[in-house]
Amino acid sequence: MKKIMILNGPNLNMLGTREPDIYGHQTLKDIEKMCHDKASELDYEIIFRQSNYEGQLVEWIQEAFKENYEGLVINAAAYTHTSVAIHDALKLLGCPVIEVHLSDPKTREEFRHFSYIESVAAHGFSGHGADGYILAIKKLKDLL
Ligand code: DQA
Repeated sequence: MKKIMILNGPNLNMLGTREPDIYGHQTLKDIEKMCHDKASELDYEIIFRQSNYEGQLVEWIQEAFKENYEGLVINAAAYTHTSVAIHDALKLLGCPVIEVHLSDPKTREEFRHFSYIESVAAHGFSGHGADGYILAIKKLKDLL
């Protein structure tokens, strides 16, 4: 069974209560369940994680490399716009990386317009809400 890692960055543990007008009413648990349902349809094993810590996200990306994961989906949240460390870690990976954002950062404040993930991602989905995660899993299916 193909193993896919889905990583979520800071403050995404607060989905549902965090700015629902921007990020929607679904919790991260709801999104995790949606991902597991889609993955079982496609016969993928999903490892779904969230951390508020940059170094933890870097370590999980390294784990995806060492354990030969076949795809990685990442919503790096605010670290998207700041983290050279996550950018460098993603460059380790030989497998496709898909960037996801619930909102569309490019249409928001200027400090969200640049992404350190974009140049190392095979594809990105922004502004589709929680469905972006499902689109990312389906995209991996096409790529793998
Ligand atoms: C986000 C967009 C980021 O700019 C922001 O910092 C987040 C969430 C999104 O999913 O829309 O925390 O990644």
